[in-house]
Amino acid sequence: MALPGKQILVNAFNMNSVGHINHGTWTHPRDTSTDYRKLDYWTSLAKTLERGLFDGLFLADILGTYDIYGGNVDLTLRESIQLPVNDPILLVSAMAAVTEHLGFGVTVNVNQEPPYTFARRMSTLDHLTGGRIGWNIVTGYLDSAARAVGRDAQTGHDLRYDQADEYLDVLYKLWEGSWDEDAVRRDKAARVFADPAKVRKVIHHGRFYDVEGYHLSEPSPQRTPLLYQAGASGRGQRFAARHAECVFIGALTPEAAQKTSRDIRAAVVAAGRRPEDVKIFVGINVVTDRSSAAAREKLQDYLAHTSPEAGLAHFAASTGIDFARYGLDDPIPYGETNSIQSATKLAQTQKWTKRDLLAKHALGGRYPALVGTPAEVADELERWVRVGEIDGFNLTRIVAPESYEDFADLVVPELQDRGLYKTEYAAGTLRHKVFGAGDRLPARHAAEAFRPNRLAAE
Ligand SMILES: Cc1cc2nc3c(=O)[nH]c(=O)nc-3n(C[C@H](O)[C@H](O)[C@H](O)COP(=O)(O)O)c2cc1C
Repeated sequence: MALPGKQILVNAFNMNSVGHINHGTWTHPRDTSTDYRKLDYWTSLAKTLERGLFDGLFLADILGTYDIYGGNVDLTLRESIQLPVNDPILLVSAMAAVTEHLGFGVTVNVNQEPPYTFARRMSTLDHLTGGRIGWNIVTGYLDSAARAVGRDAQTGHDLRYDQADEYLDVLYKLWEGSWDEDAVRRDKAARVFADPAKVRKVIHHGRFYDVEGYHLSEPSPQRTPLLYQAGASGRGQRFAARHAECVFIGALTPEAAQKTSRDIRAAVVAAGRRPEDVKIFVGINVVTDRSSAAAREKLQDYLAHTSPEAGLAHFAASTGIDFARYGLDDPIPYGETNSIQSATKLAQTQKWTKRDLLAKHALGGRYPALVGTPAEVADELERWVRVGEIDGFNLTRIVAPESYEDFADLVVPELQDRGLYKTEYAAGTLRHKVFGAGDRLPARHAAEAFRPNRLAAE
């Protein structure tokens, strides 16, 4: 919970693509995001983030393309609105090799692959990173993703979460239940690598998944990766309440963040956990410089390169509404959506027209922007944490990597002076760094039911 004097958590928010949140800024002369396909772009970014003591690099991902706006992908391609987009998982080993502490939160859709193979990929990364891997659980919101793999449309909104619940159960069985803690002996003299009595086959026959098999990886430092989630609808929050350790919310004001944050913590408590068992992150833009005037000038320079229309095309995909069909001041019939319910509901409540939406996407995206000197930005960050009852931020890149460098060089020292930011990394796994309570999920988490001691008792 937001307490005075607590340290603020910060992730860099990024994607293995050119356009991410702030559309259009790839055209800025100092922006290097078109190099996203080169390894040194990522290794150099990881080193910058570790220099700034960022808690993690949070990598978004999307399966499918943004084809709602105008009914095609023309603008999506011209402005590179999350297309092309490369696989985020493949970046992690390289970045882990050049860092010691930085965490990695990787978005993977539960529809991407069966839980059995996904469990091994995460365990592999947990081993290779020394326990620095996190997973952002997403269920998808694009019909284009379903069509790309031979289905007519995506599964219904709430059913997607039901399926994801079972996907997680299978993963917990594999990560937490298949191998006992002392299963691996590595005893050369006795010729025993692993004790067969301490490794068990997972047998799962459910509504969506059938699995019979041993987890392919031996226990990794965290076993289950640190779990991120971003669902904000009622069903999405119930899913978060059961599984998520870090919840990523979109909020335009600290007051809006407070409401969402209270709702999430109440749902977490209803699920038998503690309010502080989830850390809540808000997506934020920061534009800073040594003087207020220089920061405002920097903002104007960024604004000259953004594409509000590309931002709107992204929002069209999030809501499933083709805004290209409407005049600037036409009322927009927001209805039920099978895409991101929370995004659509907000637009509906506010009765946003296309003109309103273009203005909201002035920076190419809709995230709140904090603009000013490091002290002014720090004041605002403090206010967001206090009023919003949040724990930290996912910091966007407006211009890459400048946005992260400015934060590391200017804002971090200011926050450190106020005692609001770490001055060195804590030792241990990502989960331990974030919660300070060990490497593994606590016993009050849903995963506990799938641990060997619990399985044996049944
Ligand atoms: C801030 C934020 C970031 C998200 N990032 C991704 C992402 O990278 N990939 C993705 O497929 N979905 C992403 N989503 C979508 C969510 O995972 C989820 O599918 C969506 O919010 C639907 O939730 P709701 O209908 O419960 O609100 C994001 C959502 C929010 C609010």
